[in-house]
Amino acid sequence: MSEHESETAQSHDAWPRTVDVAVVGAGVIGLAIAWSLARAGRAVCVIDPDPAGGATFAAAGMLAPVSEFHYREENLLELMLASAALYPAFLGALSEVGCSTGYRASETIVVGIDSADRQSLADLHDAQQRNGLLVEPITLREARSREPMLSPGVSCAYRVRHDHHLDPRLLAAGLLKALTSIAEQAGLPGGVVRQRAAGLIHAEVEDDDSMVVGVELVDGTRIMATEVVVANGLSAPGLVGLPPSLALSMRPVHGEILRLSVGERLHPLITSTVRGLVRGEPVYLVPRDDGTIVVGATQREDDSARVSAGGVYRLLRDAQEIVPAVAELDLIEVTARARPGTPDNAPLLGRVAMSGGAHVAGLVIATGFFRHGVLLAPIAAEICCGLIEGARDARWDAYRPDRFGHS
Ligand code: GLY
Repeated sequence: MSEHESETAQSHDAWPRTVDVAVVGAGVIGLAIAWSLARAGRAVCVIDPDPAGGATFAAAGMLAPVSEFHYREENLLELMLASAALYPAFLGALSEVGCSTGYRASETIVVGIDSADRQSLADLHDAQQRNGLLVEPITLREARSREPMLSPGVSCAYRVRHDHHLDPRLLAAGLLKALTSIAEQAGLPGGVVRQRAAGLIHAEVEDDDSMVVGVELVDGTRIMATEVVVANGLSAPGLVGLPPSLALSMRPVHGEILRLSVGERLHPLITSTVRGLVRGEPVYLVPRDDGTIVVGATQREDDSARVSAGGVYRLLRDAQEIVPAVAELDLIEVTARARPGTPDNAPLLGRVAMSGGAHVAGLVIATGFFRHGVLLAPIAAEICCGLIEGARDARWDAYRPDRFGHS
């Protein structure tokens, strides 16, 4: 993944086979949970053959509870706002240990092109206001004073002061580094096992509702743990030994995302996140500290993990409608990844109930974060740490992983 990889990974053979918590999945969610547990003094390992190589690798990194609201996910708003509020302290703690994340507390500008876009954004603005969210309509002159490269074809604009962004690849690398360094300083086992998890180990061999006591890897190695957190996105339902009552319903929602290099002549192309509706199609442009911009993202449920030519075409076409100089940039990366979408687009987060009301001991689920993995990482970490410490916050019961019933 990055140059940090070799520093932070431990060889599988060197790995202690007993930890306090084994986290399956080293995307941004699994890493945030593991790091938070390590900070609380737990011996933690994350198990993943390709840390941060899934949806995290493609993510644009918008911390945007307000401008992502238009996807009609009112049920998620409280969780998204709570997580956004945790971000300053979360990043502050990472920065104290020397990890930079490309975080920018700059604003988001939302624009539309044609009259239907104007109407959709006005309707959205009404809904945002009804939900107490701060979104300010601004004049085109004001929008251009903030982002001079906006197209003359932009016909309406809004300002969202509190929707910021970071670089998810830096965030993941920082979390990996911080996780390992805490463990080393404390003399605790900690780090990354670069292997695929095959399944859960239960206290009673024939009973998948019995206490979870570890994780078995595909090569048969067993890592014993007091608690196991399942945070491996779309791979989670493939784990052997999940409780039979648990239907981890997820679908892959593929998306293309582009990286373009701005070059000195046009730098900085934009300074804030620019989101747009272009004849009904959403597109966003996110600036990075390294002089690149990220353009995303399509949403496809066609089961193809490959890059779609039509998707790349649409992103470039629509990004140019908003910022014409996009046509002059170098296209340096085209990536497609799948987001783990659930039936209600909310995460599967919490302990698993059995009939009779008790929970499957030793098991926490944290998957299905769909488009919001980066934004929701701090709150996922807080909720999972709370559950493992024995504290449950009833506000988040709506996301319990068993809400879709029996498989
Ligand atoms: N969170 C943005 C996306 O998934 O495209």
